[in-house]
Amino acid sequence: MQKGHSAVLTGLGAWLPPRVVDNDALSQRLDTSDEWIRTRTGIRERRIADPDTSTVDMAVQAGANALRSAGSDLVDAVVLATSTPDYVCPASAPQVASALGLSGIAAFDVNAVCTGFVYALATGGGLIAGGMADRVLVIGADVFSRLCDPADRGTVPIFGDGAGAVVLRRGLADEPGALGPFDLHSEGDNADLLIVPAGGAKQRESDDPRDHYVTMHGQAIFRHACARMAESARAVLERAGLEIDDVDRFVAHQANIRILLATAKQLKLPEDRVVANIGHAGNTSAASIPLALADACEDGSLQPGHRVLLTAFGAGLTWGSTLLTWPDVKPG
Ligand code: UT7
Repeated sequence: MQKGHSAVLTGLGAWLPPRVVDNDALSQRLDTSDEWIRTRTGIRERRIADPDTSTVDMAVQAGANALRSAGSDLVDAVVLATSTPDYVCPASAPQVASALGLSGIAAFDVNAVCTGFVYALATGGGLIAGGMADRVLVIGADVFSRLCDPADRGTVPIFGDGAGAVVLRRGLADEPGALGPFDLHSEGDNADLLIVPAGGAKQRESDDPRDHYVTMHGQAIFRHACARMAESARAVLERAGLEIDDVDRFVAHQANIRILLATAKQLKLPEDRVVANIGHAGNTSAASIPLALADACEDGSLQPGHRVLLTAFGAGLTWGSTLLTWPDVKPG
C-alpha cells in the first residue's frame, strides 16, 4: 500500500441473541447472588444463544448489519475472530461468507480469544495494506456460554453470547476511520490461566467431563488484564505520538467493570471516557469491542470525530490495541 494509505472503518453491525438471562435467574441454579455478580463484575444480565443458534448464525447476522451500515455488500475477504467455531475443523468464516452470499472470497478464522477482534482488525487491515483486498468484513462472534460448565459459578455469571462486525475499506491514513498504529502481543507460557483442556487435537477425549469446559484462574487473569491493557494502550499512543489526554473514548474488551476502571485509573484516564456495556451484555469475548462500539453509537456517547482507543486482553495470553478517529458511521 502506498504511504499515506490505510484501512478505514466504513460500516458497523451488532447482533445479540434475544434471550436475556439476569443475575436472579442464575442465582436460582447456582450458589451466587445478583449483589455478588453486580459488585464484582458490573454485570446485571447477559444474552444467551438458544441451542439451535451457533457462532456462524450470529456472525452472519452481525456481518449483514455491518454490510448494510457500509451501504455495500462488496467485500473481498471475511475475517472471523472466534474461539467458539461451530466445528473444530473446518473454520467457520467460509460458512459465514457463503451465508452472506459471498461464496468464493477469502474467508478464515482468527483465534486470539477475547483479543480476537483487535487481531482480526490488524489482519483485515494487513490484507488491505498488502494489496490483497480493497474491502474486508471483520467479525467477532462467540457463543462462550457453551464453554462454561453449567455448575461453575466462577465462569457462568461472566460470559454472554453475541456478535459484532465492521467493514474496512482502502482509504487515507489521515481520514476519519483510519486504523492504526497497532500493538499486538502474546504469552503462551500462561495458556493454562484460561483454558479448555479437552476437545482439541492434543486431548480429544477426557474421563472428566469438566475438561471440556473452560477453567479460569480469575484473579490472575484480572491482574494480567489490567497491567497488559494499560501497557499496550501506552505503547500504541506513544507510537502514534499521542497522549492519554488525546483519547476521547476508551473502548476496551468488556471483561469486568473493575478491570475497565482499574485500567483507566492506571492510565489516568477520566472514567467518563470509558465505554461500558458489560452491564447488559456480559463478557462476549471476541464480540465485545464491536458490541460496545455499537451501543456507544446508539446511546450517543460515541460521536464522529472522537479519538477512540481500542484495547483488549484475553486467553492465550494475548493482548493488543489500536486507534482510530470515529467516522460518520452508524450501526446497520
Ligand atoms: O475475558 C477474559 C476472561 N476472564 C476475565 O476477565 C476474568 C477476570 N477475573 C475476574 O473478573 C474476577 O477475578 C472474577 C469476577 C472472576 C472473580 O472476582 P474476584 O473479586 O477476583 O473474586 P474471588 O475469585 O477472589 O472470589 C472472592 C470470593 C470467594 O469466596 P471466599 O474464598 O472469599 O470465601 C469465592 O469463592 O467470592 C466467591 N465467589 C463467588 N461468590 C458468589 C466466586 N464466584 C462467586 C459467585 N458468587 N459467582
